[in-house]
Amino acid sequence: MKYHLSSSILAADFMELGKEIGATKRGGADRIHFDVMDGVFVPSISFGMTILESVRKGTDLFLDVHLMIVEPERYIEEFVKLGADSLTVHYEAAKDPIAVLKSIRSLGKKAGLAISPKTPPEAIKECLPYCDGVIVMTVEPGFGGQKIMPDCLAKIAVLREYEKETGSELDIAVDGGVKLNNVSNVLDAGANVIIAGSAVFGQDTETDTVKFMEILKKREAMQ
Ligand code: DX5
Ligand code: ZN
Repeated sequence: MKYHLSSSILAADFMELGKEIGATKRGGADRIHFDVMDGVFVPSISFGMTILESVRKGTDLFLDVHLMIVEPERYIEEFVKLGADSLTVHYEAAKDPIAVLKSIRSLGKKAGLAISPKTPPEAIKECLPYCDGVIVMTVEPGFGGQKIMPDCLAKIAVLREYEKETGSELDIAVDGGVKLNNVSNVLDAGANVIIAGSAVFGQDTETDTVKFMEILKKREAMQ
């Protein structure tokens, strides 16, 4: 299994966004996590198309776009055009999750479903053959810097079982409150993608990224 660090720029200093992305890349992160919030599905509003376009021009890292928006189907084509490498929609927000996943794949991009803390893994079982990835939220979506809800991690084992049953190959990511002091628990639970915002874009982005990468590389070597 390949392990990835997806650095969530929600926590970055936007006056220094290019430098921040450069620093996490030098530290070894291979993905950038891009949180789109609409003020409807979640209480807050973050950023959208124009910023994605700039980020795409500024980096060759894999752009993992997390759509915390209602009616995500309306925006898939536009986000693909602007350079997303993967698009993850919320199960709770999509009218027809399988149709959205299919449309993402038909545009040649990786398709993902995110589940909020109250959504059980059973809810998305039938969607998994159409998924390249799942984001297990370990905070209520909407804000960075919250504390991890460790009970959500048990969902990963269920999803890994389904992965075997359905013959799908999944990137399972954990998003929300992941820090250097709990990342080992997240990996023990079966995740192979770590999404981290405030723990990466804090004091020293490059050094903190390196610390995460050391843990991920060790895991990869252990297999
Ligand atoms: C929360 C977002 C997360 C957020 C994580 O709704 O989806 O991606 O940036 O931030 P931290 O790592 O600070 O919890
Ligand atoms: Zn996110």
